[in-house]
Amino acid sequence: MKRRVAILISGRGSNMAALIAAARAVDFPAEIVVVISNRADAGGLETAGASGIPTVVIESKPFGRDRAAFEAMLQRALDQHNVELICLAGFMRLFTEQFVQRWHGRMLNIHPSLLPSFPGLDPHGQALKAGVRISGATVHFVIPKTDAGPIVMQGAVAVAGDDTPDTLAARILEIEHRIYPEALRLLASGKVRLVGNVCRVSGNAASDAALISPAAG
Ligand code: GAR
Repeated sequence: MKRRVAILISGRGSNMAALIAAARAVDFPAEIVVVISNRADAGGLETAGASGIPTVVIESKPFGRDRAAFEAMLQRALDQHNVELICLAGFMRLFTEQFVQRWHGRMLNIHPSLLPSFPGLDPHGQALKAGVRISGATVHFVIPKTDAGPIVMQGAVAVAGDDTPDTLAARILEIEHRIYPEALRLLASGKVRLVGNVCRVSGNAASDAALISPAAG
């Protein structure tokens, strides 16, 4: 049985589109049963609709600081679609600790940096300011702390000397679209186990590719 997945978005939804595309494969262990946005103007809603995925809009703004009331509506939508796993894909709203605990081990997020470096806003600008030579993207389980939690998968890119936040973001986004479906595949096929703050992946052969930046020689 395929695991039933909800994708939560707030914006353009390119990671959502990558997950939807991957889940079309007959042997993919998860199906995207609903896309939920906390903004009616999220571009990803149209993409999801065009792919035949049911969409739900629950505007978070009217709830102001009442996160619990927003989450009650969200939970209702998740229940209506019998959702088992959640993928946050550019979902820019913080959850209460209660909601996060309820979905412990069943909710993934993607962030465009090699966590635990550069959580929060403007991760690409943060990376450039810090002068790192390698950056990337991280898929992790959601915990109450923002952009933190057991790491399922990471992908790295070299930072170029003339990178701007936009050029770096574009290269990292390509990596995001590759690792998010793979991380969901691992979780949905039961290959991921949480051991305290660490995520163990069964049959996890480390890649032997080395990335050296700037290129040596
Ligand atoms: C992605 O780069 C994602 O990693 C980032 O928002 C973007 C959403 O793009 N998420 C965060 O920064 C979470 N802290 P998308 O809507 O095209 O997937």
